[in-house]
Amino acid sequence: MSASESNTVAGDAEPAAAGAAGAAPAAGSAPAGSARRNAGAPVVFFDTTLRDGEQSPGISLNMSEKLEIAHQLVRLGVDVIEAGFPATSPGDFEAVQAIAREVKGAVICGLARCVESDIRTCWDAIKDAERPRIHTFVSTSDIHLEHQIKKTRPEVIELTREMVDLAVSLCPSDVEFSAMDATRSDVDFLAEVLQVAIECGATTINVPDTVGYTLPTEFAALIDSLYEKTPGLADVVLAVHCHNDLGLAVANSLAAIEHGATQVEVAVNGLGERAGNAAIEEVAMALVTRRDQLDRPVNIVTTEIARTSRMVSNLTGYEVQPNKAIVGKNAFAHESGIHQDGVLKERTTFEIMHAKDIGLGDSDIVLGKHSGRHALKSRLAELGIHLTGEELDEAFRRFKDVADKKKQVTALDLEALATEEIRERQDVYSLTRFYVSAGSEIIPTSQVQVMHEGAAREGKAFSGGSVESVFRAIDDAVGITGKLLDYRVRSISSGKDALAEVRVVVEVAGKTYAGQAVSIDVLEASAKAYMRALNNVAQQREARGANPERVF
Ligand code: KIV
Ligand code: ZN
Repeated sequence: MSASESNTVAGDAEPAAAGAAGAAPAAGSAPAGSARRNAGAPVVFFDTTLRDGEQSPGISLNMSEKLEIAHQLVRLGVDVIEAGFPATSPGDFEAVQAIAREVKGAVICGLARCVESDIRTCWDAIKDAERPRIHTFVSTSDIHLEHQIKKTRPEVIELTREMVDLAVSLCPSDVEFSAMDATRSDVDFLAEVLQVAIECGATTINVPDTVGYTLPTEFAALIDSLYEKTPGLADVVLAVHCHNDLGLAVANSLAAIEHGATQVEVAVNGLGERAGNAAIEEVAMALVTRRDQLDRPVNIVTTEIARTSRMVSNLTGYEVQPNKAIVGKNAFAHESGIHQDGVLKERTTFEIMHAKDIGLGDSDIVLGKHSGRHALKSRLAELGIHLTGEELDEAFRRFKDVADKKKQVTALDLEALATEEIRERQDVYSLTRFYVSAGSEIIPTSQVQVMHEGAAREGKAFSGGSVESVFRAIDDAVGITGKLLDYRVRSISSGKDALAEVRVVVEVAGKTYAGQAVSIDVLEASAKAYMRALNNVAQQREARGANPERVF
């Protein structure tokens, strides 16, 4: 029996969004030690890929990329999308506003410090959403109070009161309050702050393990203790937000859910600050696969997991480690003879989940060089990618280019090409031409042409290797010198004519930027991946309102 047969998987749970929109969860008040608190209640999935995930070093998503991910998160069935932190930059504000206006089917949330201008800016960004949420936070641990925010405990209580009041006056139906560094806070003070936030109208209370310090048993005890010490907690959604510094983010999230938490804050592929957040795919599949023990339904459409993971990996440039649970390329591969033998005899001997449950196994041949624009459009739509007008024309041009050189274009190829199209929509610089001469007896020489604001810039370079010479020629055209920190190539599918995917990490002015690109030609994919990283530099500066030229 597959996971999807034995558990609530896609859409057969009670809608968790009832809680997500701010209504109280069912039965929050079971006493510890008797029946499990909130047993059977749905878990609200709050995805923070676009906020905490985007804070990972090197990630810089433009607005089209963020919109694309947000649409995919809706297809994945997440209940709440944390779209960004609007007060941090005009670019973040615009992206959150665009998501709030365009993306339907989930609560759209913006983050704000407990600072009046942050909360007002956040509201301006999200107010047009179908279901908006303001998420405001302040630190509660003594270590943060003393060294970071320089406030006393009474000042934090007062600030919580004023800022939650303000947030509720703007967005009465849905305000989330987070006590940053909750797991290192004094529990009585923490409970006092949470009770104030609830009395002021917060509908979701979040207990973050900000520094990834807690242990599962300890976190479970903290949740029990908060339910005991905070009378209002039984009437609101209790969220947890776990970081992975000790590799315990998923274990801690599940421990909290077992003890009554009703919302879990997660990110695709476990992205996030430092070691990241709890991975959405791991928490969801644990809840689905072990429904027998955990008894908490989810709205996650598990068959969208693999595609979401690939999209986020492609757009962020963050590779998924091969042995990563659920979405790593080896997660469903059996290497040892004993395992292979067992699986052939009876799949469940060594498999607890089915690859199909997360949407794998759908990469058959789909189109060839005689396929038309209409066939491309409908196959892309089946993959959840909706292109029209010029975008479709451009995707078709790319497809034809590849199909002429490659006999069979697979679903994975199409997905990679469409992602390429999304990624280039907001590029500041685009590579129009490149030429490389290399061989065993000559010094590699490259020439490139880059377009910037309608003007062509030429660059050339001689160097030790062909890839290096292309990168230097791009530096020459754009006028900066990026330092290459990492360079990887892999093939998207199998065969000598497979599309090559190149990922680079480049350092510019002390900051790292990732870039990823695909092409039938490794050198072209390398050049485009490097251009992507430089575009991320320019876009990040633009988003902060600076002239992109200034960083160079
Ligand atoms: O890790 C953390 O504490 C956060 C808060 C803003 C919720 O990301
Ligand atoms: Zn966080």
